[in-house]
Amino acid sequence: MAHTATTEWPREAIAQCVSSVMRSRRAVRAFKPEPLRRDLVERILEDAAAAPSGANIQPWRVYVVSGSVKDDLAKAVVSAFRAGSAPAPTHFPEPLPDVFRARLLDFGARYYASLGIDRSDASARMRQTERNFSFFGAPVGLIFSIDRRLKPHSWIDLGLFAQNVMIAAKARGIDTCPQVAFAQFHDQIASCLQMPPEEITAFGMSMGYGDVAAPVNQTRMPRERTHDFARLLGFAA
Ligand SMILES: Cc1cc2nc3c(=O)[nH]c(=O)nc-3n(C[C@H](O)[C@H](O)[C@H](O)COP(=O)(O)O)c2cc1C
Repeated sequence: MAHTATTEWPREAIAQCVSSVMRSRRAVRAFKPEPLRRDLVERILEDAAAAPSGANIQPWRVYVVSGSVKDDLAKAVVSAFRAGSAPAPTHFPEPLPDVFRARLLDFGARYYASLGIDRSDASARMRQTERNFSFFGAPVGLIFSIDRRLKPHSWIDLGLFAQNVMIAAKARGIDTCPQVAFAQFHDQIASCLQMPPEEITAFGMSMGYGDVAAPVNQTRMPRERTHDFARLLGFAA
């Protein structure tokens, strides 16, 4: 599989194109029912596999589900979610340092406001959380997994691969939502997808054509300014 592409485009046009794709990607949580062609999904995965990885070990694994396979997986996870049988989510430490907690609370406020859900309405928030597990109505779902014997360093590789998936999709007009919510349901997912025992579910992702009119897709998440998160040292100017 050849990953190198040559192009005659002027460098500035390429930079603008890449920048515009990166900046227009958003976590999309309502999709049109329009199916995704298998060849498009395969092209996206081929592009994504150009991601770097430490010592090129390429630790990413991904299960891409659609049709009845996706529906069966969603059914199993939704029913485990309703039964409350999953272990508590562990993806953030408790207590979360204040700087991150402030951003998390800001995210929650914007997200639930876009849906007209009051913060105190726990059952409405649960119903919205549950929508994660039917991939927010997307025609395609992805489950990213990794060999559990690997160290956190290799999870970085998996994240880089996933970002490439989202950018390669967006470049083709296809939207995504990365979803750590799936990680809690590794047992159900592993059983549905017949994962080998050494694999662990890292996160999921919804993929399809976003419903631009849906209120939830109007949410815009702010970013810190460059000089708040970066220190540029040793430059001449
Ligand atoms: C690793 C990871 C896990 C995420 N998990 C979820 C999730 O489980 N459910 C969800 O609705 N969004 C999830 N998101 C989406 C984030 O909330 C979203 O990326 C963030 O708020 C910034 O918004 P933006 O992607 O639209 O710029 C996740 C994002 C990342 C990178």
